[in-house]
Order: sequence, then C-alpha cells, then structure tokens
Amino acid sequence: MYRFVQALCGAAGYTGPHHLVPCSVDFDSFIRRLPKAELHLHLEGTVTPETLVELSAGQNSAALGPEQARALFHYTDFSGFLLAFKAVTEHLRTPDDYELATWRMAQRLAHQGVVHAEVYVSVGVVYYWRRCEFEPLFLGMERARVRAESELGLSLYWIFDAVRHFGPDEAARVFRKAAELRPQFPSIIGIGIGGDERRTGAEPFRSLYTEAREAGLRLTAHAGETVGPEGIWGALNIGAERLGHALSAIHDPELMGVLAERQIPLEICVSSNLRTGCCARPEDHPLRRYFDAGLMVTLNSDDPALFLSDLEDEYRIAQECFAFTEEHLRELASNSIEASFLPPERKVEILRRLESLE
Ligand code: ADE
Ligand code: ZN
Repeated sequence: MYRFVQALCGAAGYTGPHHLVPCSVDFDSFIRRLPKAELHLHLEGTVTPETLVELSAGQNSAALGPEQARALFHYTDFSGFLLAFKAVTEHLRTPDDYELATWRMAQRLAHQGVVHAEVYVSVGVVYYWRRCEFEPLFLGMERARVRAESELGLSLYWIFDAVRHFGPDEAARVFRKAAELRPQFPSIIGIGIGGDERRTGAEPFRSLYTEAREAGLRLTAHAGETVGPEGIWGALNIGAERLGHALSAIHDPELMGVLAERQIPLEICVSSNLRTGCCARPEDHPLRRYFDAGLMVTLNSDDPALFLSDLEDEYRIAQECFAFTEEHLRELASNSIEASFLPPERKVEILRRLESLE
C-alpha cells in the first residue's frame, strides 16, 4: 500500500511535490495499539469546521455555513495561523460548546490509542478577547473529561495557557485562576505560554512562573518555535519543565548538550512546524537529529484541525519520512508517558503495557 504523506505539504511551508512512500497496514495497527500520551494539544485547535458549523448554528449573529467555517482555517504564515486559531476560539462561547469540543477531542484521541492527554486551553484568549469568566466554560470541559475517563478510559489533564504577547498582567490572570481552581480540580496540572515569541521572550514571565510553581502547578512553555535558541534558553531560565516545539535548539550545540544532559522533554510537532512555515522543508526538521543526540523527544499534533494531522499521523511521519523503526516508535511512546505529569504508579502501569505490546 502507498500513501501520499500530504501532512508534510504545508499551507505556508513545504510546497514541493508530495512524497510517495511505502507504508504497511501492520505499521498502522502497531501505531494505533501503542499506548501513548499526547502532551502538546490545544483544545481549540481540535475543533473541526464541521463542529464549528454545528456550534455556530446556535449563535444568532455568528452562524457559519460550511464554506465560511472552512475559510476560517486558511492561513499562509505563522501570524495568519494565530489569527485562525483566534477566529476558531471566538466561536466557542458557552459551557456546552466547551463540553462538546472536549468530548469530540476525547473520542478522537481514544480512537488513536491515546491513553492520556495534557491539553492546553487558551484561557488567555477568553479573558483578553471575550472578557468573560472562565469557570463556567471550564465546568463544561470537566463534564466531558469525567465522561471520557469513565466511558473511554482516557485521562485528561488541563494546562492553562496564556498568550505571551498580551503581556504578563494578562498571563497573571490566567495562572492565578489555575492556582485558585486547582485544589478543587486536580485535573488542572499546569500552565504555559503560547502566542508570538517574536514579540516577547520568556523573561517577563519569570516571577509568575515562580508563583505558579509554588502553587503546585507544573510549568511548560512554547519555546524556539519562531525564534532562535535564545527563546529556549529563556524558557529554561524561568523554570519551564517541558518545552513546546524547541525547533531552533539544533542551531546551538551547548543548548543541545544541556537538553540531553537534563533530559528536558521536548514536545515536537512536525506537521505544525511545516504548515506554519516555521520549518521550510521536512528534511530541515531536527526531529531525527534530536532523537539521535539522545534528547527526550515526544511527538504531538498541536492543533490537529488546523494542521490536518493527528497523533497517529505524526507517528507515521516519523516512520515514513524520518526512518524511525517500530522500536524507535515504542521509545517515542514511552517518552510521552515518562514526560507526562502523571503519577509514577500510572506511568509504570502504562509503560508495562507498552513493553509487552507485540
Ligand atoms: N497557540 C496554539 N497553537 C500554537 C502554537 N503552535 N504556537 C503558539 N501559540 C499557539
Ligand atoms: Zn502549541
């Protein structure tokens, strides 16, 4: 069987010929059966045009037809992608909308053999653009999370994400809300910063990261996605435990050494980087070089509805375009469990299943 690896042909990035590569049904089945975690996934980025049409039907002034919904997903560069993300998020308005988005996301994850996901929710966009309370929306997400756990056997943790270019004051509202709700909702595991690194580095968020850690929250950050290695150093310097993208570390041997030595988990998102144009061509992507250098690499889909890819695709891309073997993929899945914020006993249980998978 042959498949076009269309996921590698970016809207803004790679525009060359599609790759025609062999792929086996057995491999697909192996990928699906691998118990794995998704660690870099934005709830809003899982909402498909079809779901947007359905949600917007109840929004008097904002009802979308199928073509209008699909048009929202078009972008030609990273800045355009951020605007598309915002446009989709604007159509998530009620607790029921957030519940439906979460439930659909959970169903898709379970279908791909994902056993656990740590999901970013853009609380920063809700506060800054919608100027409304987040708790009622969060209760909708929680209803779907509890259902996913009991009906699908899928666990979900939430990471409250701030938009870095809205500045530290806005981020403070997001992180403090996470700290306030966490005692009642232990599913809120951590915080992060997304948005446009070209407009601000991590340093202005230093004291907020310290405060969040003291409140028991785990720390993540998008870093080195659109800027050079200095963005990754900045995230490490403020205490980020896990790095989103870390695309530019490849240009800094000293940083590569630190990432390898400290085994800092990297949330690698290949399709995302190609489609936003952050990485021009598949052959430029550092995934394989990171893996070979002993870095703690995990595969992730970031915003699957916007990048036309899901976690299974990311594993297939690793196999088909970066020559990862079955054993390598097992290691990547294992990394995803180890790098998660799950308690040790659950990690051990999943890792045992992973090791015994034939
Ligand atoms: N928000 C959602 N996806 C993002 C990404 N890849 N980078 C920055 N902010 C984001
Ligand atoms: Zn992201």
